[in-house]
Amino acid sequence: MNRFKVVLITGLVVGTATAAIGPLARSQDTPSVARASFQPNGNLTLPVGYRHWVHIGTRYKPIGINILDGLPTKTPEILNAYVEPSAMAAFEKTGRWADGTQIVKEFSAIRTGPGCDEKSWVCQSPLGAGIFEDHYIGLGMMVKDLKRFPDAPGHWGYFSFGHKPLPYDRVAALRPLAKCAACHVKLASGTDYVIRQAHLGLQKSFDEGQ
Ligand code: HEC
Repeated sequence: MNRFKVVLITGLVVGTATAAIGPLARSQDTPSVARASFQPNGNLTLPVGYRHWVHIGTRYKPIGINILDGLPTKTPEILNAYVEPSAMAAFEKTGRWADGTQIVKEFSAIRTGPGCDEKSWVCQSPLGAGIFEDHYIGLGMMVKDLKRFPDAPGHWGYFSFGHKPLPYDRVAALRPLAKCAACHVKLASGTDYVIRQAHLGLQKSFDEGQ
């Protein structure tokens, strides 16, 4: 075998090996994530166990308009956001929201009534004073899906399972852009429409204690 052939064969072997490793390396860069459950008509099914997903933060929202139904609230509400764990793992690895990512935002009503101040909403209790969550009162969700929402900003679909006490609606239809996405586009187009600045769990290092 002359030298030219050796170089050529070596090149071919290395080239083939690189081509074989290439897609594998890429798929590791963007890990696949668990998919949301959709009905044949495109409605989204209420996810199971979302309160066990990764909790990324809490917001206390004074009396105002609730985004799920556009109606004024009677008391402040507490908002808790959760990311489906495999999507969170992908985000921690790549810094991007992967295709399939599911994020839930659940609302709870605060405790009111005897022992609670109607301005600060602080309640006195045998446990100590505090603003306490009283009951769940609504659920919104974002799902990133390149195939289902090819034209939506960031390929996010937005859904509401109702602004009401449990049980929530079992399925939710896709909300029009103006109802949900428009606000996320206005506030967070630089962070793939996820309002990252609002969630302590999406800032800085993800490692505990750092
Ligand atoms: C008036 C502006 C506005 C509208 C309208 C709006 N959102 Fe949001 N959304 C926010 C803000 C601000 C946050 C971050 C803080 C928080 O949790 O409220 C947020 C956060 C979220 C999150 C958590 C992930 C993230 O992006 O931070 C989800 C899920 C969500 N919204 C779903 C919805 C759904 C579903 C609708 C429509 C029913 C909707 N939003 C409409 C302003 C809006």
